[in-house]
Amino acid sequence: MSIEKVVIPVAGLGTRLLPATKSQPKEMLPVGRKPVVQYVVEEMIHQGLKKFLFITGRNKRSIEDHFDRDMELTERLTESGNAELLEELDYEAEGVDFFYTRQSIRLGWKTPAGLGDAVASAKDFVGRESFVVALGDSIIKSGAYSGLVQRLIASHVRHGSCCTIAVCSVPHDEVHRYGIVKPKGRLGSDFEIEDIIEKPPENEAPSRFAVAARYVFNPEIFTALEHTAPGAGGELQLTDAIRILLKMGHTVRCLKLKNDETRYDIGNPESYFRAFMDFALADPKYGYLIRQYLQKKLREI
Ligand code: G1P
Repeated sequence: MSIEKVVIPVAGLGTRLLPATKSQPKEMLPVGRKPVVQYVVEEMIHQGLKKFLFITGRNKRSIEDHFDRDMELTERLTESGNAELLEELDYEAEGVDFFYTRQSIRLGWKTPAGLGDAVASAKDFVGRESFVVALGDSIIKSGAYSGLVQRLIASHVRHGSCCTIAVCSVPHDEVHRYGIVKPKGRLGSDFEIEDIIEKPPENEAPSRFAVAARYVFNPEIFTALEHTAPGAGGELQLTDAIRILLKMGHTVRCLKLKNDETRYDIGNPESYFRAFMDFALADPKYGYLIRQYLQKKLREI
């Protein structure tokens, strides 16, 4: 089975990053040289995905502009001898298609109804195929390109799972920020789960394995989403739909991030600052200067 569709939800309000996100999407905040969502798209392209659906919302138009071909900019860069910059901008050349749909505000709601509702808007795009969900506010960085999504897909197919989730271990005091899984049976790098809970308090978390923003789903998730009631934060949670899949008797498995893979969740200021620093320090051109600057600064404290 080849999977070529990916759904990228980018409709969240980014409240935790205000005021930076008052009029711009958090997914467009720069991390090092690129906006967050560009890392997500590049990761998916490297993993062989071809058809992208962004689930957008209010104030998210700059994401569409970012992935659109800009002929004026192309001409300007070519004329000024900066054509090499185009390589980092030319997504059409990769043979991928970008589609956009807007997560409409449900009747009776004041804000978008949550991640579950966002993914539900991908139903027509997905049809009867399995597909990937990559959250647009999380970067997965890997040392040697180890292909997380391809590993997820391979596991999904091998085990005939209905849903396969990337997870990573988080400290106890961070479990309340994530979806936390309850493993079933033996724990390997790839394991089955019996439950999943969205943002549990520390004393109720069934493990420290947190959902790491990449998933593979069969279309049955849309049936589960139709039966999902508001959960944590009063939102329709994707995690609760996965719970319904488990109740329906479907197999849900998880795959642990490898040691050379790091998940950066850009959703709060601390993790955003960390991500920015790591990427700035690793920059091939400016990293050395930033390292020198930081060393000097730290000596002054
Ligand atoms: C979402 C999911 C959560 C997951 C997290 C990963 O939460 O609901 O299960 O662990 O993304 O980044 P959010 O960050 O939207 O609150």
